[in-house]
Amino acid sequence: MSRPAKSAALLLVLGGSVFVAWGLLGEREESPGSVQASSAQCRSCHPALYEEWSASWHAKAYVDPEVRGLSNDFRNEECIDCHAPRPVFETGIGKPPLPRAARRAEGVDCISCHARDGGVAGPSKEAAGACAPRFEPLLATPEFCGGCHDQHHTVKEWRATPFAAKGITCVGCHMKPVDREGRRGSDHRSPASHEAEEIRKALTFAVKREGALVRVSVANTGAGHHFPTDERSRAGDLIVRVLEADGSVRSVRRLDRYRNPYRDEVGAAAALPYREESPLLETRPESTILPNGVERTYEFPIPEGTGTIEVHLTYKTIPYPLDPSEILADEKSFAEKKAFRIFKEVVPF
Ligand code: HEC
Ligand code: HEC
Ligand code: HEC
Ligand code: HEC
Ligand code: HEC
Repeated sequence: MSRPAKSAALLLVLGGSVFVAWGLLGEREESPGSVQASSAQCRSCHPALYEEWSASWHAKAYVDPEVRGLSNDFRNEECIDCHAPRPVFETGIGKPPLPRAARRAEGVDCISCHARDGGVAGPSKEAAGACAPRFEPLLATPEFCGGCHDQHHTVKEWRATPFAAKGITCVGCHMKPVDREGRRGSDHRSPASHEAEEIRKALTFAVKREGALVRVSVANTGAGHHFPTDERSRAGDLIVRVLEADGSVRSVRRLDRYRNPYRDEVGAAAALPYREESPLLETRPESTILPNGVERTYEFPIPEGTGTIEVHLTYKTIPYPLDPSEILADEKSFAEKKAFRIFKEVVPF
Protein backbone atom coordinates (compact mmCIF):
# COMPACT_ATOMS: atom_id res chain seq x y z
CA MET A 1 0.00 0.00 0.00
CA SER A 2 1.29 3.48 -0.85
CA ARG A 3 1.67 5.98 2.02
CA PRO A 4 -1.37 8.15 1.18
CA ALA A 5 -3.57 5.04 0.78
CA LYS A 6 -2.42 3.77 4.18
CA SER A 7 -3.34 6.96 6.00
CA ALA A 8 -6.69 7.16 4.21
CA ALA A 9 -7.51 3.65 5.49
CA LEU A 10 -6.48 4.63 9.01
CA LEU A 11 -8.65 7.75 8.88
CA LEU A 12 -11.63 5.67 7.78
CA VAL A 13 -11.26 3.34 10.74
CA LEU A 14 -10.70 6.23 13.14
CA GLY A 15 -13.84 7.89 11.85
CA GLY A 16 -15.81 4.71 12.61
CA SER A 17 -16.42 5.14 16.32
CA VAL A 18 -14.75 6.49 19.40
CA PHE A 19 -14.48 2.98 20.78
CA VAL A 20 -12.72 1.56 17.72
CA ALA A 21 -10.31 4.50 17.77
CA TRP A 22 -9.55 3.97 21.45
CA GLY A 23 -8.87 0.30 20.86
CA LEU A 24 -6.64 1.05 17.89
CA LEU A 25 -4.48 3.64 19.57
CA GLY A 26 -4.35 1.93 22.94
CA GLU A 27 -1.00 1.10 24.47
CA ARG A 28 -1.66 -2.57 24.85
CA GLU A 29 1.59 -3.23 26.67
CA GLU A 30 0.34 -0.97 29.46
CA SER A 31 -3.28 -1.86 29.84
CA PRO A 32 -4.60 -4.96 28.13
CA GLY A 33 -8.22 -4.44 27.11
CA SER A 34 -8.05 -0.79 28.11
CA VAL A 35 -10.08 1.71 26.12
CA GLN A 36 -7.89 4.63 27.12
CA ALA A 37 -5.27 5.75 24.68
CA SER A 38 -4.72 9.43 25.37
CA SER A 39 -5.72 12.09 27.86
CA ALA A 40 -7.12 14.07 24.95
CA GLN A 41 -9.99 11.55 24.91
CA CYS A 42 -10.94 12.38 28.49
CA ARG A 43 -11.35 15.98 27.36
CA SER A 44 -14.56 15.34 25.40
CA CYS A 45 -16.50 14.42 28.57
CA HIS A 46 -14.40 16.21 31.23
CA PRO A 47 -13.56 19.49 29.40
CA ALA A 48 -13.25 21.85 32.38
CA LEU A 49 -11.22 19.35 34.36
CA TYR A 50 -8.97 18.83 31.34
CA GLU A 51 -8.30 22.60 31.17
CA GLU A 52 -7.48 22.62 34.86
CA TRP A 53 -5.01 19.77 34.51
CA SER A 54 -3.48 21.42 31.39
CA ALA A 55 -2.45 24.33 33.64
CA SER A 56 -0.74 22.00 36.14
CA TRP A 57 2.94 21.08 36.37
CA HIS A 58 1.85 17.46 35.95
CA ALA A 59 0.77 18.31 32.38
CA LYS A 60 4.14 20.00 31.73
CA ALA A 61 6.31 17.29 33.29
CA TYR A 62 7.82 16.14 29.97
CA VAL A 63 7.95 19.46 28.12
CA ASP A 64 9.14 21.57 31.09
CA PRO A 65 12.36 23.25 29.80
CA GLU A 66 13.98 22.95 33.25
CA VAL A 67 13.52 19.18 33.23
CA ARG A 68 14.59 18.85 29.61
CA GLY A 69 17.73 20.84 30.35
CA LEU A 70 18.70 18.86 33.42
CA SER A 71 17.91 15.47 31.85
CA ASN A 72 19.84 16.27 28.67
CA ASP A 73 16.55 16.20 26.73
CA PHE A 74 15.66 12.90 28.41
CA ARG A 75 18.74 11.19 26.99
CA ASN A 76 19.12 10.39 30.68
CA GLU A 77 16.37 7.78 30.45
CA GLU A 78 15.88 7.29 34.18
CA CYS A 79 14.26 10.73 34.19
CA ILE A 80 11.36 9.48 32.04
CA ASP A 81 10.02 7.20 34.80
CA CYS A 82 8.10 9.85 36.76
CA HIS A 83 7.92 12.59 34.11
CA ALA A 84 6.09 10.40 31.51
CA PRO A 85 4.95 7.39 33.55
CA ARG A 86 2.89 4.34 32.78
CA PRO A 87 -0.31 4.01 34.86
CA VAL A 88 0.56 4.00 38.55
CA PHE A 89 -2.14 1.47 39.43
CA GLU A 90 -0.78 -0.97 36.90
CA THR A 91 2.80 -0.62 38.15
CA GLY A 92 1.57 -0.84 41.73
CA ILE A 93 1.25 1.64 44.62
CA GLY A 94 4.51 1.88 46.54
CA LYS A 95 6.53 0.73 43.52
CA PRO A 96 8.70 3.09 41.47
CA PRO A 97 6.88 4.20 38.29
CA LEU A 98 7.92 2.82 34.90
CA PRO A 99 8.56 4.89 31.78
CA ARG A 100 5.98 5.15 29.02
CA ALA A 101 6.88 4.46 25.40
CA ALA A 102 4.26 6.65 23.71
CA ARG A 103 2.71 10.17 23.92
CA ARG A 104 5.30 11.27 26.39
CA ALA A 105 4.50 14.95 25.83
CA GLU A 106 1.34 14.45 27.93
CA GLY A 107 3.58 14.09 30.98
CA VAL A 108 1.83 12.97 34.17
CA ASP A 109 -1.57 12.66 32.54
CA CYS A 110 -5.11 11.47 33.35
CA ILE A 111 -4.16 7.92 32.39
CA SER A 112 -1.01 7.87 34.56
CA CYS A 113 -3.09 8.52 37.67
CA HIS A 114 -6.50 7.02 36.83
CA ALA A 115 -6.21 4.07 34.41
CA ARG A 116 -7.01 0.79 36.10
CA ASP A 117 -8.14 -2.59 34.74
CA GLY A 118 -9.62 -1.15 31.55
CA GLY A 119 -11.52 1.55 33.46
CA VAL A 120 -10.64 4.45 35.73
CA ALA A 121 -10.02 4.65 39.47
CA GLY A 122 -12.20 7.35 41.05
CA PRO A 123 -12.84 8.86 44.47
CA SER A 124 -16.61 8.21 44.68
CA LYS A 125 -18.68 5.08 45.08
CA GLU A 126 -21.63 6.27 42.99
CA ALA A 127 -19.95 7.44 39.76
CA ALA A 128 -20.90 5.66 36.51
CA GLY A 129 -19.95 6.63 32.94
CA ALA A 130 -18.43 5.52 29.62
CA CYS A 131 -14.92 5.51 31.14
CA ALA A 132 -15.99 2.80 33.63
CA PRO A 133 -15.15 4.59 36.89
CA ARG A 134 -14.63 2.46 39.95
CA PHE A 135 -14.19 3.57 43.55
CA GLU A 136 -10.55 3.30 44.63
CA PRO A 137 -9.75 4.39 48.20
CA LEU A 138 -5.98 4.36 47.55
CA LEU A 139 -6.26 7.11 44.90
CA ALA A 140 -6.38 10.04 47.32
CA THR A 141 -3.74 8.71 49.75
CA PRO A 142 -0.21 10.09 50.30
CA GLU A 143 1.11 6.63 49.36
CA PHE A 144 -0.33 7.14 45.87
CA CYS A 145 1.44 10.50 45.45
CA GLY A 146 4.52 9.00 47.09
CA GLY A 147 5.32 6.72 44.13
CA CYS A 148 6.75 9.84 42.50
CA HIS A 149 6.91 12.32 45.39
CA ASP A 150 8.82 10.40 48.05
CA GLN A 151 12.25 10.44 46.42
CA HIS A 152 13.34 12.94 49.06
CA HIS A 153 10.97 11.77 51.82
CA THR A 154 8.08 14.21 51.41
CA VAL A 155 5.61 11.55 52.60
CA LYS A 156 7.79 10.73 55.61
CA GLU A 157 8.04 14.44 56.43
CA TRP A 158 4.27 14.76 56.16
CA ARG A 159 3.72 11.88 58.62
CA ALA A 160 5.64 13.82 61.29
CA THR A 161 3.43 16.94 60.98
CA PRO A 162 0.20 17.62 62.91
CA PHE A 163 -1.62 17.62 59.53
CA ALA A 164 -1.14 13.87 59.23
CA ALA A 165 -2.72 13.30 62.66
CA LYS A 166 -5.68 15.47 61.59
CA GLY A 167 -6.08 13.53 58.33
CA ILE A 168 -5.08 16.50 56.12
CA THR A 169 -3.34 14.73 53.25
CA CYS A 170 -1.44 15.87 50.15
CA VAL A 171 -4.77 16.00 48.30
CA GLY A 172 -6.27 18.07 51.16
CA CYS A 173 -3.79 20.90 50.44
CA HIS A 174 -2.86 20.38 46.77
CA MET A 175 -6.22 19.36 45.25
CA LYS A 176 -8.62 21.64 47.13
CA PRO A 177 -12.37 21.43 46.41
CA VAL A 178 -13.48 23.46 43.37
CA ASP A 179 -16.89 24.09 41.84
CA ARG A 180 -16.80 23.37 38.15
CA GLU A 181 -19.66 22.87 35.70
CA GLY A 182 -22.09 23.06 38.61
CA ARG A 183 -20.44 20.20 40.51
CA ARG A 184 -17.95 19.82 43.26
CA GLY A 185 -14.56 18.51 42.18
CA SER A 186 -10.88 18.47 43.23
CA ASP A 187 -8.52 21.11 41.84
CA HIS A 188 -6.30 19.39 39.26
CA ARG A 189 -4.08 22.48 38.82
CA SER A 190 -2.33 21.37 42.03
CA PRO A 191 -0.63 24.68 42.66
CA ALA A 192 2.46 24.71 44.88
CA SER A 193 5.89 26.22 44.63
CA HIS A 194 5.60 27.99 41.31
CA GLU A 195 3.10 30.42 42.84
CA ALA A 196 4.16 33.07 45.38
CA GLU A 197 0.65 32.96 46.83
CA GLU A 198 0.97 29.24 47.67
CA ILE A 199 4.45 29.59 49.16
CA ARG A 200 3.16 32.42 51.37
CA LYS A 201 0.73 29.90 52.93
CA ALA A 202 3.68 27.84 54.15
CA LEU A 203 5.30 30.53 56.29
CA THR A 204 4.72 32.90 59.15
CA PHE A 205 7.05 35.85 58.67
CA ALA A 206 7.54 38.71 61.12
CA VAL A 207 9.91 41.68 61.29
CA LYS A 208 9.93 43.87 64.43
CA ARG A 209 12.01 46.74 65.72
CA GLU A 210 12.91 46.14 69.35
CA GLY A 211 14.92 49.02 70.82
CA ALA A 212 18.27 49.11 69.02
CA LEU A 213 17.62 45.75 67.33
CA VAL A 214 15.65 44.36 64.41
CA ARG A 215 14.15 40.96 65.11
CA VAL A 216 13.10 38.66 62.26
CA SER A 217 11.30 35.37 62.62
CA VAL A 218 10.42 32.77 60.03
CA ALA A 219 8.34 29.69 60.83
CA ASN A 220 7.01 26.84 58.72
CA THR A 221 3.42 26.75 59.92
CA GLY A 222 1.54 25.86 56.73
CA ALA A 223 3.49 23.35 54.62
CA GLY A 224 2.62 19.72 55.32
CA HIS A 225 6.34 18.89 55.02
CA HIS A 226 9.72 20.66 55.13
CA PHE A 227 10.21 24.00 53.39
CA PRO A 228 11.28 23.41 50.71
CA THR A 229 10.65 19.70 50.14
CA ASP A 230 11.47 17.28 47.31
CA GLU A 231 13.19 19.19 44.51
CA ARG A 232 16.71 19.93 45.78
CA SER A 233 17.28 22.94 43.54
CA ARG A 234 14.74 24.94 45.48
CA ALA A 235 15.71 27.46 48.10
CA GLY A 236 14.16 30.16 50.26
CA ASP A 237 16.45 33.13 50.91
CA LEU A 238 16.22 35.59 53.77
CA ILE A 239 17.96 38.76 52.61
CA VAL A 240 18.54 42.09 54.32
CA ARG A 241 19.17 45.16 52.19
CA VAL A 242 20.03 48.49 53.77
CA LEU A 243 19.29 51.62 51.74
CA GLU A 244 20.62 55.13 52.36
CA ALA A 245 18.16 58.02 52.75
CA ASP A 246 18.65 58.82 49.01
CA GLY A 247 17.69 55.24 48.04
CA SER A 248 21.18 54.04 47.12
CA VAL A 249 22.18 50.61 48.37
CA ARG A 250 24.48 50.55 51.43
CA SER A 251 24.65 46.76 51.90
CA VAL A 252 23.06 43.44 50.98
CA ARG A 253 23.49 40.31 53.06
CA ARG A 254 21.82 36.95 53.37
CA LEU A 255 20.69 36.03 56.86
CA ASP A 256 19.81 32.49 55.92
CA ARG A 257 19.05 30.14 53.08
CA TYR A 258 16.49 27.35 53.52
CA ARG A 259 17.75 24.47 51.47
CA ASN A 260 18.92 20.90 51.52
CA PRO A 261 21.93 21.32 49.26
CA TYR A 262 23.02 18.62 46.91
CA ARG A 263 25.66 20.59 45.09
CA ASP A 264 27.66 23.75 45.53
CA GLU A 265 26.59 26.89 43.85
CA VAL A 266 28.84 28.91 41.62
CA GLY A 267 28.56 32.30 39.98
CA ALA A 268 26.67 35.38 41.10
CA ALA A 269 24.88 33.88 44.10
CA ALA A 270 28.15 32.59 45.52
CA ALA A 271 28.99 36.25 46.12
CA LEU A 272 26.58 36.15 49.08
CA PRO A 273 27.64 33.94 51.97
CA TYR A 274 25.41 30.88 52.13
CA ARG A 275 24.45 31.68 55.71
CA GLU A 276 25.20 34.58 57.98
CA GLU A 277 27.08 33.72 61.17
CA SER A 278 24.54 33.35 63.94
CA PRO A 279 24.26 31.37 67.16
CA LEU A 280 21.75 29.13 65.41
CA LEU A 281 24.43 27.83 63.10
CA GLU A 282 26.12 25.80 65.81
CA THR A 283 23.12 23.60 66.39
CA ARG A 284 22.04 23.46 62.80
CA PRO A 285 22.50 20.33 60.68
CA GLU A 286 24.14 20.36 57.25
CA SER A 287 20.80 20.97 55.68
CA THR A 288 19.26 24.37 56.42
CA ILE A 289 15.80 23.23 55.37
CA LEU A 290 12.90 24.48 57.58
CA PRO A 291 10.81 21.57 58.92
CA ASN A 292 7.12 22.04 59.70
CA GLY A 293 6.60 23.41 63.22
CA VAL A 294 10.08 24.99 63.40
CA GLU A 295 10.63 28.72 63.91
CA ARG A 296 13.97 30.48 63.40
CA THR A 297 14.72 33.95 64.73
CA TYR A 298 17.43 36.44 63.79
CA GLU A 299 18.54 39.70 65.38
CA PHE A 300 20.76 42.50 64.12
CA PRO A 301 21.45 46.06 65.27
CA ILE A 302 19.86 49.12 63.67
CA PRO A 303 22.61 50.66 61.50
CA GLU A 304 24.13 54.12 62.03
CA GLY A 305 22.71 57.16 60.24
CA THR A 306 19.34 57.29 58.43
CA GLY A 307 17.76 55.15 55.73
CA THR A 308 15.62 52.02 55.41
CA ILE A 309 16.12 48.35 56.16
CA GLU A 310 14.34 45.97 53.81
CA VAL A 311 13.89 42.35 54.87
CA HIS A 312 13.06 40.10 51.90
CA LEU A 313 12.07 36.48 51.78
CA THR A 314 12.56 35.16 48.26
CA TYR A 315 12.25 31.73 46.66
CA LYS A 316 13.88 30.17 43.62
CA THR A 317 12.87 27.00 41.79
CA ILE A 318 15.92 26.46 39.61
CA PRO A 319 19.28 24.91 40.48
CA TYR A 320 21.28 27.72 38.96
CA PRO A 321 22.20 30.79 40.96
CA LEU A 322 20.49 34.09 40.32
CA ASP A 323 22.02 37.51 40.70
CA PRO A 324 21.07 38.88 44.14
CA SER A 325 19.67 42.07 42.60
CA GLU A 326 17.43 39.87 40.44
CA ILE A 327 16.30 37.89 43.45
CA LEU A 328 15.16 41.11 45.10
CA ALA A 329 13.25 42.35 42.06
CA ASP A 330 9.47 42.36 41.89
CA GLU A 331 7.47 39.19 41.34
CA LYS A 332 6.33 40.60 38.01
CA SER A 333 9.79 40.39 36.52
CA PHE A 334 9.76 36.60 36.89
CA ALA A 335 7.29 35.67 34.21
CA GLU A 336 8.95 32.30 33.83
CA LYS A 337 8.26 31.50 37.47
CA LYS A 338 11.84 30.78 38.34
CA ALA A 339 12.01 33.02 41.40
CA PHE A 340 9.63 35.07 43.49
CA ARG A 341 9.56 37.56 46.25
CA ILE A 342 7.38 36.03 48.95
CA PHE A 343 7.58 38.70 51.67
CA LYS A 344 9.04 42.16 52.09
CA GLU A 345 9.01 44.30 55.24
CA VAL A 346 10.51 47.76 55.56
CA VAL A 347 11.92 49.30 58.76
CA PRO A 348 12.95 52.99 58.57
CA PHE A 349 15.84 54.15 60.76
C1 HEC B 1 -17.88 9.42 26.96
C2 HEC B 1 -17.70 10.28 28.11
C3 HEC B 1 -16.51 10.06 29.02
C4 HEC B 1 -15.20 9.89 28.66
C5 HEC B 1 -14.57 9.88 27.27
C6 HEC B 1 -14.46 9.84 29.89
N1 HEC B 1 -15.30 9.93 30.97
FE1 HEC B 1 -14.80 9.87 32.93
N2 HEC B 1 -16.73 9.98 33.46
C7 HEC B 1 -17.79 10.15 32.61
C8 HEC B 1 -19.02 10.20 33.37
C9 HEC B 1 -20.42 10.44 32.82
C10 HEC B 1 -18.65 10.02 34.72
C11 HEC B 1 -19.57 9.94 35.92
C12 HEC B 1 -19.70 11.25 36.60
C13 HEC B 1 -20.37 11.04 37.94
O1 HEC B 1 -21.30 10.26 38.03
O2 HEC B 1 -19.90 11.66 38.89
C14 HEC B 1 -17.21 9.87 34.74
C15 HEC B 1 -16.49 9.65 35.89
C16 HEC B 1 -15.10 9.64 35.95
C17 HEC B 1 -14.31 9.46 37.15
C18 HEC B 1 -14.84 9.17 38.54
C19 HEC B 1 -15.28 10.38 39.27
C20 HEC B 1 -15.65 10.08 40.68
O3 HEC B 1 -16.24 11.00 41.29
O4 HEC B 1 -15.32 8.99 41.20
C21 HEC B 1 -13.00 9.55 36.79
C22 HEC B 1 -11.80 9.42 37.70
C23 HEC B 1 -12.97 9.74 35.37
N3 HEC B 1 -14.24 9.82 34.88
C24 HEC B 1 -11.81 9.84 34.64
C25 HEC B 1 -11.77 9.80 33.25
C26 HEC B 1 -10.56 9.70 32.49
C27 HEC B 1 -9.18 9.63 33.10
C28 HEC B 1 -10.89 9.64 31.17
C29 HEC B 1 -9.98 9.49 29.98
C30 HEC B 1 -9.16 8.29 29.99
C31 HEC B 1 -12.34 9.72 31.11
N4 HEC B 1 -12.84 9.81 32.39
C32 HEC B 1 -13.08 9.69 29.95
C33 HEC B 1 -17.72 10.26 31.24
C34 HEC B 1 -16.57 10.08 30.48
C1 HEC C 1 10.87 9.16 41.37
C2 HEC C 1 10.25 10.04 40.42
C3 HEC C 1 11.13 11.03 39.67
C4 HEC C 1 12.23 10.76 38.90
C5 HEC C 1 12.86 9.39 38.61
C6 HEC C 1 12.68 12.04 38.39
N1 HEC C 1 11.87 13.05 38.82
FE1 HEC C 1 12.07 15.03 38.43
N2 HEC C 1 10.50 15.45 39.61
C7 HEC C 1 9.73 14.50 40.27
C8 HEC C 1 8.74 15.18 41.07
C9 HEC C 1 7.72 14.50 41.95
C10 HEC C 1 8.95 16.57 40.89
C11 HEC C 1 8.20 17.71 41.55
C12 HEC C 1 8.97 18.03 42.80
C13 HEC C 1 8.77 19.37 43.33
O1 HEC C 1 8.05 20.17 42.75
O2 HEC C 1 9.38 19.62 44.39
C14 HEC C 1 10.06 16.70 39.96
C15 HEC C 1 10.57 17.93 39.53
C16 HEC C 1 11.66 18.06 38.72
C17 HEC C 1 12.24 19.35 38.33
C18 HEC C 1 11.74 20.72 38.70
C19 HEC C 1 10.87 21.25 37.61
C20 HEC C 1 10.50 22.71 37.76
O3 HEC C 1 10.11 23.33 36.75
O4 HEC C 1 10.58 23.27 38.84
C21 HEC C 1 13.32 19.07 37.56
C22 HEC C 1 14.25 20.08 36.89
C23 HEC C 1 13.43 17.61 37.47
N3 HEC C 1 12.39 17.04 38.19
C24 HEC C 1 14.41 16.94 36.78
C25 HEC C 1 14.57 15.56 36.79
C26 HEC C 1 15.70 14.90 36.18
C27 HEC C 1 16.84 15.59 35.44
C28 HEC C 1 15.55 13.56 36.42
C29 HEC C 1 16.50 12.43 36.04
C30 HEC C 1 17.83 12.52 36.61
C31 HEC C 1 14.31 13.40 37.19
N4 HEC C 1 13.75 14.64 37.38
C32 HEC C 1 13.81 12.18 37.61
C33 HEC C 1 9.86 13.14 40.21
C34 HEC C 1 10.90 12.48 39.60
C1 HEC D 1 3.36 9.38 38.30
C2 HEC D 1 4.14 10.35 39.03
C3 HEC D 1 3.39 11.34 39.92
C4 HEC D 1 2.33 11.09 40.76
C5 HEC D 1 1.63 9.78 41.04
C6 HEC D 1 2.01 12.36 41.37
N1 HEC D 1 2.86 13.33 40.90
FE1 HEC D 1 2.86 15.28 41.43
N2 HEC D 1 4.40 15.66 40.14
C7 HEC D 1 5.05 14.70 39.40
C8 HEC D 1 6.09 15.34 38.61
C9 HEC D 1 7.06 14.64 37.68
C10 HEC D 1 6.03 16.73 38.90
C11 HEC D 1 6.93 17.83 38.36
C12 HEC D 1 6.52 18.30 37.02
C13 HEC D 1 7.41 19.43 36.52
O1 HEC D 1 7.43 20.49 37.15
O2 HEC D 1 8.07 19.24 35.51
C14 HEC D 1 4.93 16.89 39.87
C15 HEC D 1 4.54 18.11 40.39
C16 HEC D 1 3.60 18.25 41.41
C17 HEC D 1 3.26 19.50 42.06
C18 HEC D 1 3.80 20.86 41.69
C19 HEC D 1 4.97 21.23 42.56
C20 HEC D 1 5.52 22.60 42.32
O3 HEC D 1 6.69 22.75 42.56
O4 HEC D 1 4.81 23.53 41.91
C21 HEC D 1 2.35 19.21 43.05
C22 HEC D 1 1.72 20.17 44.03
C23 HEC D 1 2.10 17.79 42.99
N3 HEC D 1 2.86 17.24 41.98
C24 HEC D 1 1.22 17.12 43.83
C25 HEC D 1 0.86 15.78 43.69
C26 HEC D 1 -0.12 15.12 44.51
C27 HEC D 1 -0.91 15.78 45.62
C28 HEC D 1 -0.17 13.83 44.10
C29 HEC D 1 -1.06 12.72 44.61
C30 HEC D 1 -2.49 12.94 44.50
C31 HEC D 1 0.76 13.68 43.00
N4 HEC D 1 1.38 14.90 42.78
C32 HEC D 1 1.00 12.51 42.30
C33 HEC D 1 4.78 13.35 39.38
C34 HEC D 1 3.73 12.74 40.03
C1 HEC E 1 -1.06 21.61 55.15
C2 HEC E 1 -0.97 21.73 53.71
C3 HEC E 1 -0.03 20.82 52.96
C4 HEC E 1 0.02 19.42 52.99
C5 HEC E 1 -0.73 18.48 53.89
C6 HEC E 1 0.98 19.06 51.97
N1 HEC E 1 1.50 20.16 51.36
FE1 HEC E 1 2.82 20.20 49.83
N2 HEC E 1 2.96 22.23 49.98
C7 HEC E 1 2.19 23.03 50.81
C8 HEC E 1 2.63 24.42 50.68
C9 HEC E 1 2.04 25.61 51.43
C10 HEC E 1 3.67 24.42 49.71
C11 HEC E 1 4.49 25.63 49.23
C12 HEC E 1 5.69 25.84 50.10
C13 HEC E 1 6.78 24.80 50.02
O1 HEC E 1 7.50 24.75 49.03
O2 HEC E 1 6.93 24.03 50.98
C14 HEC E 1 3.85 23.03 49.30
C15 HEC E 1 4.77 22.60 48.35
C16 HEC E 1 4.82 21.31 47.81
C17 HEC E 1 5.65 20.88 46.71
C18 HEC E 1 6.66 21.73 45.96
C19 HEC E 1 7.70 22.05 46.98
C20 HEC E 1 9.14 21.94 46.77
O3 HEC E 1 9.79 22.39 47.72
O4 HEC E 1 9.68 21.45 45.80
C21 HEC E 1 5.44 19.55 46.51
C22 HEC E 1 6.10 18.68 45.49
C23 HEC E 1 4.44 19.14 47.49
N3 HEC E 1 4.10 20.23 48.26
C24 HEC E 1 3.96 17.85 47.61
C25 HEC E 1 3.22 17.39 48.70
C26 HEC E 1 2.95 15.99 48.98
C27 HEC E 1 3.42 14.84 48.13
C28 HEC E 1 2.22 15.96 50.13
C29 HEC E 1 1.73 14.77 50.89
C30 HEC E 1 2.75 13.82 51.36
C31 HEC E 1 2.01 17.35 50.55
N4 HEC E 1 2.64 18.17 49.67
C32 HEC E 1 1.30 17.74 51.67
C33 HEC E 1 1.19 22.60 51.64
C34 HEC E 1 0.92 21.27 51.94
C1 HEC F 1 -1.34 13.32 39.60
C2 HEC F 1 -2.45 12.43 39.53
C3 HEC F 1 -3.70 12.86 38.78
C4 HEC F 1 -3.79 13.32 37.48
C5 HEC F 1 -2.66 13.63 36.52
C6 HEC F 1 -5.20 13.46 37.20
N1 HEC F 1 -5.94 13.11 38.31
FE1 HEC F 1 -7.96 13.08 38.46
N2 HEC F 1 -7.81 12.74 40.46
C7 HEC F 1 -6.65 12.43 41.13
C8 HEC F 1 -6.95 12.24 42.53
C9 HEC F 1 -5.94 11.92 43.62
C10 HEC F 1 -8.34 12.42 42.68
C11 HEC F 1 -9.16 12.33 43.97
C12 HEC F 1 -9.19 13.67 44.66
C13 HEC F 1 -10.02 13.72 45.91
O1 HEC F 1 -10.38 12.68 46.45
O2 HEC F 1 -10.30 14.85 46.35
C14 HEC F 1 -8.86 12.74 41.34
C15 HEC F 1 -10.19 12.99 41.06
C16 HEC F 1 -10.72 13.01 39.77
C17 HEC F 1 -12.12 13.10 39.44
C18 HEC F 1 -13.27 13.23 40.44
C19 HEC F 1 -13.23 14.59 41.13
C20 HEC F 1 -13.43 15.76 40.21
O3 HEC F 1 -12.61 16.70 40.29
O4 HEC F 1 -14.35 15.76 39.42
C21 HEC F 1 -12.22 13.07 38.07
C22 HEC F 1 -13.48 13.11 37.25
C23 HEC F 1 -10.87 13.00 37.55
N3 HEC F 1 -9.97 12.99 38.60
C24 HEC F 1 -10.53 12.98 36.21
C25 HEC F 1 -9.25 13.29 35.72
C26 HEC F 1 -8.95 13.64 34.34
C27 HEC F 1 -9.95 13.65 33.22
C28 HEC F 1 -7.62 13.94 34.28
C29 HEC F 1 -6.81 14.47 33.11
C30 HEC F 1 -7.34 15.67 32.46
C31 HEC F 1 -7.07 13.73 35.62
N4 HEC F 1 -8.10 13.38 36.46
C32 HEC F 1 -5.73 13.86 35.98
C33 HEC F 1 -5.39 12.35 40.58
C34 HEC F 1 -5.06 12.75 39.29
